[in-house]
Amino acid sequence: MSSSEFQIELSQVTHAYKTKDGPLPVLDALSLQMDKGTFTAVVGPSGCGKSTLTRLIAGLLIPDEGEVYLHGEKVKSPRSTVGMAFQNPVLLEWRTILENVLLPLEIVPNKLTKAEKEARGCELLSMVGLQGFENKKPSELSGGMRQRASLCRSIVHRPEVLILDEPFGALDAFTREDLWQIMHSIRVKENITTLLITHDLRECVFLADQIVVLSGRPATAQYVADGPLPMDRTLEDLYTPEATKLLAELRRQIQIAQGRNDEGEAA
Ligand SMILES: Nc1ncnc2c1ncn2[C@@H]1O[C@H](COP(=O)(O)OP(=O)(O)OP(=O)(O)O)[C@@H](O)[C@H]1O
Ligand SMILES: [Mg+2]
Repeated sequence: MSSSEFQIELSQVTHAYKTKDGPLPVLDALSLQMDKGTFTAVVGPSGCGKSTLTRLIAGLLIPDEGEVYLHGEKVKSPRSTVGMAFQNPVLLEWRTILENVLLPLEIVPNKLTKAEKEARGCELLSMVGLQGFENKKPSELSGGMRQRASLCRSIVHRPEVLILDEPFGALDAFTREDLWQIMHSIRVKENITTLLITHDLRECVFLADQIVVLSGRPATAQYVADGPLPMDRTLEDLYTPEATKLLAELRRQIQIAQGRNDEGEAA
């Protein structure tokens, strides 16, 4: 057991992939803490190990060294209490939007009746502005709408932890900003501990309580900052002096991180 009260804690996590050319060190003594109900955003150069970090938290990968704890319990295997959403939402075309959203409730054990499940799914779809689309097929929705449905699916079973790996990356700028606001209202209503991986610094500042910049590979926490926005926030808050100052510092930190990236890839 970890002595801490954190919802998610990584302690000195070091991990290398075994490849045919030998070990590829990806994470180096990475420590990270997230309190229950908080929102953490992680940025870092391409290929530095961000998706690897999400797999470690979800228990899909066990670190070579160090520990990952979810609410004080060491993670040793995949966890159904972790919800995940990715850049390209995989929705099943032969199911309606509501049936797609309810999928985790068919997999994760629960005592909900059919009516309760449907009520939960409809409540979430309505929260993201998709009321009236419950019985449509995924192909009848726009990319932004599909991503909203995918967000509903990732939280329908009330996971303790939500992991978002660049969920808004494939969307146009305006749709993305809509999704930020929807994500923030979900976060306020559902009180889920959320870890967001992104390349978008404004997205970090708008959504997060804690922002972590990872160094180049092998990645460690190079810079950690608190998000400056009040809980009751609007997109205009991104232009306040505090937000502008933090954006400039994050940009500087990313440049430092890219300098350490041995492939010299851009973030
Ligand atoms: N299963 C694997 N086996 C071997 N190497 C891997 C494996 N998965 C990832 N890698 C390598 O580990 C490094 C980190 O990968 P990861 O996907 O975690 O990076 P990332 O920060 O998410 O990148 P991006 O920003 O492009 O999404 C990369 O060099 C990648 O090629
Ligand atoms: Mg990735």
